[in-house]
Amino acid sequence: MAEFDVIIIGGGPGGYVCAIRAAQLGLKVACVEGRDTLGGTCLNVGCIPSKALLNATHHLHEVHENFEKMGLMGANPTVDWAKMLAYKDDVIAGNTKGIEFLFKKNKVTWLKGWGTIPAPGQVKVGEEVHTAKNIVIATGSEPSSLPGVTVDEQVIVTSTGALALPAVPKSMVVIGAGVIGLEMGSVYARLGTQVTVVEYLDAITPGMDAEVAKAFQKILTKQGIKFILGAAVQGAETTGTGAKVTYKLRKDDSAHDLEAEVILVATGRKPYVDGLGLEALGVERLPRGQIKTDDHFSTNIKGLYAIGDAITGPMLAHKAEDEGMALAEIMAGKHGHVNYNVIPGVVYTTPEVASVGATEEQLKEQGRAYKVGKFSFMGNARAKAVFQAEGFVKILADKETDRILGAHIIGPMAGDLIHEVCVAMEFGASAQDLALTCHAHPTYSEAVREAALACGDGAIHA
Ligand code: NAI
Repeated sequence: MAEFDVIIIGGGPGGYVCAIRAAQLGLKVACVEGRDTLGGTCLNVGCIPSKALLNATHHLHEVHENFEKMGLMGANPTVDWAKMLAYKDDVIAGNTKGIEFLFKKNKVTWLKGWGTIPAPGQVKVGEEVHTAKNIVIATGSEPSSLPGVTVDEQVIVTSTGALALPAVPKSMVVIGAGVIGLEMGSVYARLGTQVTVVEYLDAITPGMDAEVAKAFQKILTKQGIKFILGAAVQGAETTGTGAKVTYKLRKDDSAHDLEAEVILVATGRKPYVDGLGLEALGVERLPRGQIKTDDHFSTNIKGLYAIGDAITGPMLAHKAEDEGMALAEIMAGKHGHVNYNVIPGVVYTTPEVASVGATEEQLKEQGRAYKVGKFSFMGNARAKAVFQAEGFVKILADKETDRILGAHIIGPMAGDLIHEVCVAMEFGASAQDLALTCHAHPTYSEAVREAALACGDGAIHA
């Protein structure tokens, strides 16, 4: 008899959600986590701490940019960086302890330590070998390295180091205009750091709807962030005063360098699966290192599953959570399913940027007949009242059936607004379904409705 029905390796959003759901469905569950706290990268050194710093610095930005416009005079707060970091750490602690509480409540056993899989059905933690009917690998990802760049987490840092710098630097070069680069770049730009983003491609945020990416870059530039696009970073080295990045412009192969106090390397992440014993077990991998799984998250080894950043698909906490929940259902003999067509993506800058479904570029590539409904937040009274009218909502719908195929929002609370479109898409709704739904006034969500109206006979406030 196996000791557990399921042992999950990794206590991040994929692993802990899988553990809780499996326990709720009556399975005997253990979760292996080697960090001192649960929650994985997301809660400890990713999504949550970055949101705390984004929140604090957003308020600072508001004070400087907008307070006097609203008749709030004389405010000039100074930054106590140590206190801001302590606030961030409190936010982390509150959340990680919350997961520990949920484990206790749901009777999930936390096996503290780093796990390996010596044989199918076995997980070794420290000196102890535990047995389980099913094993789930939910070990997440780690920053991928860049040739010629040695990270020391002091001067040349990944997102982990960027969340705990000893002081606010005067200057920072961010390598990579992806989500991490722009979120952390925003934090420091708002704190007064001169931020320069060096990006290989000719646009920021690869994969984002091009029209939105362009508007986003314009807004961030206005906020003081500099962009060097089409630039392949060749290397970085520390100097007496900071570090120097060397890059080549792709258009003419010319070499350049750039010095800054801190360099943030944000060029993507890779699955964190080394040391689990996968090679000895003969677990199949994909060319980019992810664990190969079938539609039910099963590897080629019976009873061994994998989810989240360790497998293919977008490296997002909520994608991992959904997979964790679906897999728990499958292991409990039910039907688990993830709809990969409706996974939202959000960048938590100000304004926020959010998207779901197809981009206009993808629809063109597919040769699909589509229509575009767009609405600017300039026509949204609420957004204007809070000085956030710069963005827009763009809904893409099938030209014939009016079915919503994608939505892209740049504007206030975009990360929350996107979800009404997600729900609509889950139900196979048309743009007209959204347009005919009453939206409270005055809310930002009216802009979503107006974009849906623009897919038909036209928006009202445009
Ligand atoms: P990313 O894959 O989003 O962006 C990396 C960027 O670096 C790309 O634009 C790429 O072209 C560029 N790049 C790569 N090599 C380069 C070179 N040698 N020189 C110049 N540019 C180069 O990766 P990022 O931002 O590190 O994020 C990692 C993962 O974490 C992503 O999958 C992201 O979705 C996820 N994440 C999600 C967040 C959210 O949902 N809000 C927040 C933070 C991370």
